[in-house]
Amino acid sequence: MLYFKKSEVAEAYHISEKTVTNWIREAKDGKLDLELHEEHGRAWIVNTTRNIEHIEQLVEKRKKFRNSRGIKTIQPKPEFYELYNQQQIFDLTSSLDIYHEVAPDYTYFDGGAEYWDKYAQRLAFEKLPNLLTCTIKQLRANQGYIDDLTSQYQRINVVDIGPGNGLPVKEFLEHLLDQGKLGRYIALDISPSILRIVERNIKEWFGPKVPFESHQIDIKHDRFAHLLTEGVLEGKADSIVNLVVSFGAGFSNFHSPDDAFKTVRSSLNRQDLFVHNLKLDSKTSRQYFDLGLRTKSTMFDVHERMMVDLLNIDESLYDVEAGYDDQLRQRYIRIRFKVALEITFSLEKGDRVVRFNKNDTLLVWRYWHQTAREVIDQLERNNFDVLQTSQTEDKDYLLTVSRVKCD
Ligand SMILES: C[S@@+](CC[C@H](N)C(=O)[O-])C[C@H]1O[C@@H](n2cnc3c(N)ncnc32)[C@H](O)[C@@H]1O
Repeated sequence: MLYFKKSEVAEAYHISEKTVTNWIREAKDGKLDLELHEEHGRAWIVNTTRNIEHIEQLVEKRKKFRNSRGIKTIQPKPEFYELYNQQQIFDLTSSLDIYHEVAPDYTYFDGGAEYWDKYAQRLAFEKLPNLLTCTIKQLRANQGYIDDLTSQYQRINVVDIGPGNGLPVKEFLEHLLDQGKLGRYIALDISPSILRIVERNIKEWFGPKVPFESHQIDIKHDRFAHLLTEGVLEGKADSIVNLVVSFGAGFSNFHSPDDAFKTVRSSLNRQDLFVHNLKLDSKTSRQYFDLGLRTKSTMFDVHERMMVDLLNIDESLYDVEAGYDDQLRQRYIRIRFKVALEITFSLEKGDRVVRFNKNDTLLVWRYWHQTAREVIDQLERNNFDVLQTSQTEDKDYLLTVSRVKCD
């Protein structure tokens, strides 16, 4: 007969072995309706659908009971409401409630943007290869190919999705200026603070030579086709091409990266190019954690910690865990709650309460690991034609050049 070890039940339902021992004792006393297997004075819970259902009910009951007693209630800090609008707060709370995740998008606001600026400046001077220096190197290596693809157009607009501080495209813009081909530079980002930083840098580096334009959008669902219409107007379509770039692997942090690929795909004109790069899966990348500018809490850097702090979740309420999840194929940083927690958000239409049980986790950062083949498959299933792929010599970084699949 198949039966469960106490440790298996404890691990599967985040409860202690002592609780399982108590259930077995109560079942023996006829107080609980669990079927047991008994041998030599010992007893185990039998592995049946009925027992599993019953265990799940007991776990639920236990959670409710514990929550009503030991629950810790908190509210986000006032700064949280100053930083995000109602729609963003609703989006954030949904991600917390449904996925137990901090939506990564919102960590580039305010101090998060300044953090990214400093971090990217540090990467620029690092001796070992990193995502920024490899992006610049790969763009340089693909310059000839991109020039060739765009040679018939008089003007190239660069549309930078999630530009950070602009460093990845700086050299590329210089190249287009030298060729006399640069049209508009359009920065698209969810964070107004990032847009201010990239505007400051572009103006400082190029002055009026680069016409700067910025739009606050969420790339997961805000199409930007209306910004690229001059590329389809009669008499202009043959002279203008948009080069849409997404560097720094931002999509790999999203819950569902395909959402962003679909938005890009549905915004491009047929002649436009989409250039995208990221760090690939490898044994070393699975162990890689660049913790940037550290804070007191060992595993956390300022960036990942920002939202946890804004939500007013005190350090004493959680442990930090970081690692690589073999099954989901993602690197993660998450917090595990030491207590049951209730966060009340005040929205214009009323309060929204998000609840966590003791031992629940909240994901604060993730990176989906993909092979080069999987990235190409992802682009293809989102209706891109992949024209060119190139990897760095160590095969750690991939850059792709694609167009929308047309009939
Ligand atoms: C990982 S950084 C990459 C920055 C830069 N491309 C680089 O390679 O250094 C991600 C960028 O995407 C932006 N971002 C994050 N979520 C976004 C979203 N949903 N829509 C638009 N931009 C987003 C961030 O504000 C940030 O500028």
